Amino acid sequence: MKPSSSLQKRLGLGLTLGMTLLWLGATVGAWLVVQHELNEAFDSALEETAQRILPLAVLEISNREEPREAQHVATLKMHKEYLTYLVRDASGKILMQSHDANPKIFNQQPTEGFTTSEKYRLYGASALRETLFIEIAEPLDHRREAAREALFALLLPLLALIPVSLLGTWLFVRISLRSVLAYRRAVEARGVGDLSPIKVARLPAEIDPLAEAVNHLLERLRKALEAERSFTANSAHELRTPLAATLAQVQRLRHEAPEGPLRVRAAKIENALRELARLSEKLMQLAKAEGGGLLSETPQDLIPLLAHGVDEWNQRSDQRIELHLPSQASVYSNIDPDAFGILLRNLIENALKYGATDQPIEVSLTEQAQLRVVNSGPAVPQSVLQHLTERFVRGHSEISGSGLGLAITKTIVQGVNARMKLVSPATGRQDGFEVCVWLPLA
Ligand SMILES: Nc1ncnc2c1ncn2[C@@H]1O[C@H](COP(=O)(O)OP(=O)(O)OP(=O)(O)O)[C@@H](O)[C@H]1O
Ligand SMILES: [Mg+2]
Repeated sequence: MKPSSSLQKRLGLGLTLGMTLLWLGATVGAWLVVQHELNEAFDSALEETAQRILPLAVLEISNREEPREAQHVATLKMHKEYLTYLVRDASGKILMQSHDANPKIFNQQPTEGFTTSEKYRLYGASALRETLFIEIAEPLDHRREAAREALFALLLPLLALIPVSLLGTWLFVRISLRSVLAYRRAVEARGVGDLSPIKVARLPAEIDPLAEAVNHLLERLRKALEAERSFTANSAHELRTPLAATLAQVQRLRHEAPEGPLRVRAAKIENALRELARLSEKLMQLAKAEGGGLLSETPQDLIPLLAHGVDEWNQRSDQRIELHLPSQASVYSNIDPDAFGILLRNLIENALKYGATDQPIEVSLTEQAQLRVVNSGPAVPQSVLQHLTERFVRGHSEISGSGLGLAITKTIVQGVNARMKLVSPATGRQDGFEVCVWLPLA
């Protein structure tokens, strides 16, 4: 699958590229206009100068004793001329020239109006019925430099605008997407059993329908799951009474049956019925674990709950369970007391069932609400250990069971956003089995 691309990156690059292109287009347009206007202004100055010099030149030439002699105009102070000019007669003979004028840069024959050579812009005008011509030359370098500087002035802001646009878009998109990130966090923070609608304030209009669709989907999913769970819970519940009645009948039958195969068969049926009752009890626990409501509104002190649970099991099991409690008086957690009871029951039941019968079982709780149940017995290989929390998966054990106990425990643990670990051999031992649950502290 192609990795999804970042909206921030795409918008940043796209907008910056678009802005740069538009800016370049606008620069070219503005530059052409500026160039045109500059040329007009320069041309008009050139024309004005020629028209000013021409009458003076005519006067001067006509006052000469020898008008057909060429003459350099003397300057008051030596300087480099920006504009140079020639005054010629119709045949091209030079009658007067500015002191820096180079005749090679002018047209061979005097011409009126504007002409452009490689390096000069020329303007010609005539007087005395086209017998005297003036031509004035201006180097093009100056105009080109002016145009170049105008271009740089237009392009320079772009250098600053590119990073500003990139950063600006990045920041702007980031701020705009804040509510989307909040939405993502709200989805991620959900416990497994939480299918209530996700509420996030002020999502962008483009994302809002999506969030609504997700909420509809969650609602449908919740209804479907509820239907399934209530079916499991109801059937398990409905089975209880007939099972108990049948069990009582079978027990009576076994007592009343004469010694022999009939009694043995009745005993077998009794055992099967007990198994069935146990399975229906586990199914009910699983339905409860999946049904949500695993967190209680008010924090619960785990110490009395644990002490009571262990006490109950100790009475049935010849005081095999050792309880280790933290020194502090109470450990508050958000877990629902019923859910905690089911979790504890399954773990202790397993430890009693699969642990070595001559060894005690250790149950401990720390101040950080870490619950550990440890029993001795042969270690369970890692490959088997990994799958024990799956439904209907059992280890290689002669003892009967349905393979649901650890699945129920895991469902509860996930439902309260806690963590659970199976360790075998138990920590600090050569053998045994350990279940570690980090419960949520209130
Ligand atoms: N404390 C333990 N010590 C050793 N093995 C264990 C322990 N707890 C569980 N196991 C192994 O994990 C398997 C799965 O346990 P789980 O509680 O899920 O099912 P079960 O005990 O077989 O059946 P159920 O609990 O539904 O009656 C068990 O069959 C057993 O092999
Ligand atoms: Mg079990």
